[in-house]
Amino acid sequence: MVGDTGVGDTGQQVTQKWDPSRYQTNAGFVPKLGRPVLEMAAPVAGERVLDLGCGDGVLTEEIVALGCTVVGVDFSADQIEAARERGLDAHVMDGQKLTFQNEFDLVLSNAAMHWMPDQSAVIDGVWRALKPGGRFACEMGGGDNVGKIRRAVRTALSARGFDADAMDPWTFPGVVDQRARLEDQGFTVESIKLIDRPTPLPGDIEGWLWTFCESFLMAAPEEERAGIIEDVRSALDPILRDENGVWIADYVRLRFLAHKPA
Ligand code: BEZ
Repeated sequence: MVGDTGVGDTGQQVTQKWDPSRYQTNAGFVPKLGRPVLEMAAPVAGERVLDLGCGDGVLTEEIVALGCTVVGVDFSADQIEAARERGLDAHVMDGQKLTFQNEFDLVLSNAAMHWMPDQSAVIDGVWRALKPGGRFACEMGGGDNVGKIRRAVRTALSARGFDADAMDPWTFPGVVDQRARLEDQGFTVESIKLIDRPTPLPGDIEGWLWTFCESFLMAAPEEERAGIIEDVRSALDPILRDENGVWIADYVRLRFLAHKPA
């Protein structure tokens, strides 16, 4: 997760702000849907775990409850403050510049790596952070993740003369490219797959757009933002609402488990 304006020196987009209370309202489902990656990672009591992109620490707390010693890192100072308020050992850190060396049995990451453009830098840092024999369990956006939403936002921006490429903060790898990055680093990939996961939103798509699309929206002048949201909403209404009026976001997950050889 990211905060403040500009582009970080690793290329990470930093116009996205994470307001913990807005996040809980519009994106409280994110840590709840982190259960599959937690089950795949299978943390064992006594293990030392790094939660990469821990956000406000909801999932981190669950790993602590299993008896692990957990360190959480996130690029958003606001989210780290919220995680610390839960009593967690949490630190502001760019996931593309991890500073740990040979100290974790497990690195777990849920719904965070797609905010980090330099995937190889992340994988390199995870490799260094793990002890020999350690494992890397990750779930992130992959393939055509939120493709309908992304295209609608980009179309609305382009129609108003903005450079949508420059505003797009997301990196959604496929199986072949991410496996190659992991194997090039030296990891043994136990499993890697793309999973369609249509996700009901807790409210209107507008709340999701304000929560996750600030990098797009903040690059437009304030007086244009409501119009952009309305254009996106109108384009998506016929294709992303079910018969009960519930908005269903077209999430696609990339889930993988990799091992650093002993
Ligand atoms: C995701 O978790 O896949 C995601 C979240 C926010 C924006 C885009 C994708």
